[in-house]
Amino acid sequence: MSLIKTIDFPPLGDERGSLVALEAHKTVPFDVKRVYYIFGTKPGVSRGFHAHRALQQVSVCVTGKCRMVLDDGHKREEVWLDSPTKGLLIGDLVWREMHDFSPDCVLLVLASEFYDETDYIRSYDEFKRVVAS
Ligand code: TYD
Repeated sequence: MSLIKTIDFPPLGDERGSLVALEAHKTVPFDVKRVYYIFGTKPGVSRGFHAHRALQQVSVCVTGKCRMVLDDGHKREEVWLDSPTKGLLIGDLVWREMHDFSPDCVLLVLASEFYDETDYIRSYDEFKRVVAS
């Protein structure tokens, strides 16, 4: 089964332009407790390099693009987030990295839980141990 689970957000635009609505349990398959966005990423910088024990997220580049790498401890897959109508669903225990941010990239993230540093696994070796256990 592919690690890459994209969600096509229905565009609600009209002759004036475009609009996307993200609703819990409709376009986004969980209760959204937190929204954050990453922007102004410096050239050559990669981010992420962690997994979460119990957190679902949907990521979308509302402007610009970046390359997302997902890893479940067994395989590694990647996808370009390059459209404001393309979301990426990331579940528990998935190592994620974000690379090749365009200078205009605004990466919006909807999360199922409040911020909790103890939910992070920031060591790839620890991630491999947790997945194996
Ligand atoms: P971090 O999750 O490490 O960023 P990356 O997307 O590269 O993995 O977050 C960077 C910093 O921001 C870190 O000090 C934790 C803080 N932070 C919050 O306080 N709240 C949040 O919701 C998030 C996502 C991060």
